Amino acid sequence: MRIVVTGAAGRLGRSVAQALRDAGHAVLSVDRAFAPGDEGETADLTDRDATEILFTRLAPDAVVHLAAIAVPFSAPEHTIFTVNTAMAHSVLEAAVAAGASRVLVASSPTVLGYGSPTWDPGRLPLDERSPRGASNSYALSKICIEETVAAFARREPSVRFGAFRPCYVISPEEWSGAPTQQGHTVLERLERPELAAVSLFNYVDARDVAAFVGTWLEADRTPPGAVYVVGAADSLAVEPVAALLAHFHPGTTPYVSALDADAPVFSSAAAARDLGWRPTRSWRTELAPEDLARLESPRGPALDGSPLPQKAVS
Ligand SMILES: NC(=O)c1ccc[n+]([C@@H]2O[C@H](COP(=O)([O-])OP(=O)(O)OC[C@H]3O[C@@H](n4cnc5c(N)ncnc54)[C@H](O)[C@@H]3O)[C@@H](O)[C@H]2O)c1
Repeated sequence: MRIVVTGAAGRLGRSVAQALRDAGHAVLSVDRAFAPGDEGETADLTDRDATEILFTRLAPDAVVHLAAIAVPFSAPEHTIFTVNTAMAHSVLEAAVAAGASRVLVASSPTVLGYGSPTWDPGRLPLDERSPRGASNSYALSKICIEETVAAFARREPSVRFGAFRPCYVISPEEWSGAPTQQGHTVLERLERPELAAVSLFNYVDARDVAAFVGTWLEADRTPPGAVYVVGAADSLAVEPVAALLAHFHPGTTPYVSALDADAPVFSSAAAARDLGWRPTRSWRTELAPEDLARLESPRGPALDGSPLPQKAVS
C-alpha cells in the first residue's frame, strides 16, 4: 500500500512509519518539519487546500493521521481546539478527495475526562464503552475528531474509517532514559507513582502501537468509524494498581476491586477481539536489568506502608 503518515516526525510517527516500511509498504511521510537527514513532505495540514493538493499528488491507498498538538495545555486552549479539529477535518477531506480507501486517525484516552476532579468512571477497567467527558481543549478536540471520523464513515461508506486511542506512548529510546512526553524518564514514572497517576498508569510501547496500525490497515473490515483503545497489558506501576488508583483518584474506589494487581486500567480487549492485535512489550521486558533491579529494592513510602505521596498537579 501507499500510505500517507501525518505527524511522521513525531514521537509515535517515527515508529509507525518505520514499522509500515519494514512491512513492505511505501510510506509517504508528512509533517510540518523534519529532523535534518529525515525525508518527507513538509506541510501545514491546517491549510485545507494545500493538503488536498498534496494528497492528490501523493495518491495514497491509505492515510494514518497522527499530526496534532499532542500535549494538553502546551498551547492556548483555543489554539489546541481549533488546530486539532481543523487539521483532522482537512486531512479527512483530502484523503477522500485523493481516493484513499482506508483512513485511521489518532484520538486519545483523555476523552474520558479523568483529569477532572468530578470524574466518575462508572466501572473498571475502562474501555471503548466508558463514557466520554472532556474537561480541557485537548480532550475535547479528540472527542470532536472521533465524531468527525464517525461522520465521514457514514458519509463515505466505500472508505474504511477508524480511530484509536493510544495510551501514554513510550518510544524505543525512552526505555533507556530519554525523557517521555511529560519530561520524566520511564524510571522516574515508576519510582514516583504520582507522575504516572495523572494518566491512570496507562502506557504503551510505540512499536506496539505501530503494529496495531499495520494490523488495522491490513484488515479486510472493521466496524465503520470504530474506536480502539491501544495500551500495554499491564500498568506503569510497581505497586498493585488498584491501591494506587484509589489513592490518587478517590472516585475510582468503588470500582478498583475489578483490577488485578498488574492489570491495565484501560482494556484493549476490543482490538484483540476484532483484529487479533495484542501488545507484546511491557516495562518489565523493555527496561535495562539494572533499572529493574533498582525498582525491586525496598524504596518508597508505598512499600513501607506509610502514606503515598500527594496527587501531582499537571
Ligand atoms: N504520545 C502520547 O502519549 C499520545 C497519547 C495519546 C494520543 N496521542 C496522539 O497520537 C498522535 C501522535 O502523538 P505524538 O506523541 O507522536 O506527538 P508529537 O508531538 O511527537 O508528534 C505530532 C506531530 O504532528 C506534527 N504537527 C503538528 N501540527 C501540524 C500541522 N499543522 N501540520 C503538519 N504537522 C503538524 C508535529 O510537527 C509533530 O511532529 C497525536 O494525535 C496525539 O494526540 C499521543
